[in-house]
Amino acid sequence: MFSAIMASIRALITEFFHLFIHRDFHEAVAKMTLIDRLLFLIVHFIDKLGIWHRLPVFLGLFYLGIRRHLHESYNLFNVGRSTVGVRFNPMDYPYRTADGKYNDPFNEGAGSEGTFFGRNILPVDQKKKLMKPDPMVVATKLLARRKFTDTGKQFNMIAASWIQFMIHDWIDHLEDTKQIELTAPKEVASQCPLKSFKFYKTKEVPTGFYEIKEGGLNIRTPWWDGSAIYGSNAERLQKVRTFKDGKLKIDSNTDLLLHDQDGTPVSGDVRNGWAGLSTLQALFIKEHNAVCDTLKKEYRDMDDEELYHRARLVTSAVIAKVHTIDWTVELLKTDTLRAGMRANWYGLLGKKFKDTFGHVGGVVLGGLVGLKKPNNHGVPYSLTEEFVSVYRMHGLLPDHLDLRDISASPGPNKSPPLMEKVPMANLIGHKGEKTLANIGFAKQMVSMGHQACGALELWNYPTWLRDVIPHDVDGHDRPDHVDLPALEVYRDRERSVARYNEFRRTLLLIPISKWEDLTDDEEAIRDLEEVYGDDVEELDLLVGLMAEKKITGFAISETAFVIFLLMASRRLEADRFFTSNFNEETYTKKGFEWVNTTESLKDVLERHYPELIKKWMNSTSAFTVWDSPPESHNPIPIYLRVPQ
Ligand code: HEM
Repeated sequence: MFSAIMASIRALITEFFHLFIHRDFHEAVAKMTLIDRLLFLIVHFIDKLGIWHRLPVFLGLFYLGIRRHLHESYNLFNVGRSTVGVRFNPMDYPYRTADGKYNDPFNEGAGSEGTFFGRNILPVDQKKKLMKPDPMVVATKLLARRKFTDTGKQFNMIAASWIQFMIHDWIDHLEDTKQIELTAPKEVASQCPLKSFKFYKTKEVPTGFYEIKEGGLNIRTPWWDGSAIYGSNAERLQKVRTFKDGKLKIDSNTDLLLHDQDGTPVSGDVRNGWAGLSTLQALFIKEHNAVCDTLKKEYRDMDDEELYHRARLVTSAVIAKVHTIDWTVELLKTDTLRAGMRANWYGLLGKKFKDTFGHVGGVVLGGLVGLKKPNNHGVPYSLTEEFVSVYRMHGLLPDHLDLRDISASPGPNKSPPLMEKVPMANLIGHKGEKTLANIGFAKQMVSMGHQACGALELWNYPTWLRDVIPHDVDGHDRPDHVDLPALEVYRDRERSVARYNEFRRTLLLIPISKWEDLTDDEEAIRDLEEVYGDDVEELDLLVGLMAEKKITGFAISETAFVIFLLMASRRLEADRFFTSNFNEETYTKKGFEWVNTTESLKDVLERHYPELIKKWMNSTSAFTVWDSPPESHNPIPIYLRVPQ
């Protein structure tokens, strides 16, 4: 009797909710708790009006807070057999280990090299649709660059290199030994630089679990632990350390990476790099070594091993902080996101408060960094397949690097004169390292600072990446060139990542029902129809992310942003070195001070190259084009601002 009454009450509540929500969400909402249903109703109502980014900042943050909570509850899936592992005492491992083990105190292997990519969305099997529509047709008709479009003054080539620097810290898939070959269909063959190409399948590994049966393995440690300079295992770490005073190897004459006899750079990660990435690796090796010098001066008894460990903690935290409150703020250039990203690091109470009183309150008031305990929301930390997919941002790369003359006097807004346009193809791999050696650190950095990067839009994927030599894990060229945009379309399908519309739906974003919901561009609609007919469900994720109308100030799509919202927080919140171990005891007093007084990439550059920055950087952030005007003071408190 009682259960019958409860069942009818539940049915009534469900019916009530259905009145207000898009039918595609009925199933998802049915799995939510009552409170989450109400929270979803708020988010959904705002989404229907399409106004979250136009709300006053404090309301926008409220919306994002609810959204993040819903995704933490419903968009994290463990891949692998168990959500718990071996417990250990964190005191036994006071530092970051070489392979990322022993970070999560309840699961010694979480986030280590060779563990599974997790999921934000359950896999959507596409084995029968791997070639539908043909990836080379998609690449040719919708992705390949027709005319270079840039991001104006918003985002520069340092910003593009920076995100590759992060990718090489976080993610890379283990490949199978079996090769696949794709051949260009007749209708596009004449426009494809490679008529066919071969590549290694992604390795599919049985998980031993019934829900998600197979998964991919991440051969980089997904923790924010600076693997791009330290490597993701003990063997690589051996190669990059000097074993003297904690330092890493670098060419102290040129401030660039050292090289093996065969020309491979000596760094934590050496795969598929280019001169821009290499320059940032060198800069942060210099940063690491400078931390070592400071610590050694202060703590005379510290040996090489301890200096290395403490300097790694500090340098990794500086990288994470620059990414959180500098790079991302320029990528998503709105007051709401500026406030939100700073709140992730400092909490809503802000930097001054935190510097004075320490971490007070929970996530909202005190921020993620410095929380008393790490929080993985019940799912062991990993980065996810969907995360990899939204970071497919090769459109950021231009066709040429505009090389500047830094021996000249600065022009208007500190701009250096253009010397030469160097094709990007000359700046990648081993050849790129040689070109960079001729250019030099300073000229490369200033040139990247003064050049806008590519926009993430349709028809803006560099055509030089349609015939590119991929690397083995050890940085050696492979014999088979690849058509990268076609390969990327194939990869998402092969890895069972949902296509665009299902991706949105599962992230509780209103799906599209016609091409006009995606874009106003008539030419784009014509080409989308040509490739996908009128079936919007077939739209590939990568294409959808590029075609989507952007929120003003956002250099990426809203769909990609939702994955960022969830995963950028998680990278900090699940890591004990950013939470329970983010303190003087672990980092040392000097080291902790180093992190707390570094606010931006400009601070790092100024530390090592004060004259260069003074002479050539007019902008406030090192990630905007350097001849931009410095940001003016806005007297309105940030939480009260209303986005334009
Ligand atoms: C000149 C610079 C770059 C080169 C030569 C390059 C090349 C490559 C190659 C060959 C792959 C492997 C493709 C595969 O087998 O699936 C790859 C993967 C990838 N690249 Fe790049 N890339 C460059 C810059 C960037 C940038 C700026 C980003 C921006 C975020 C980026 C993001 C990624 C991602 C997310 C993957 C997938 C990794 C995975 O499968 O786990 N790359 N890149």
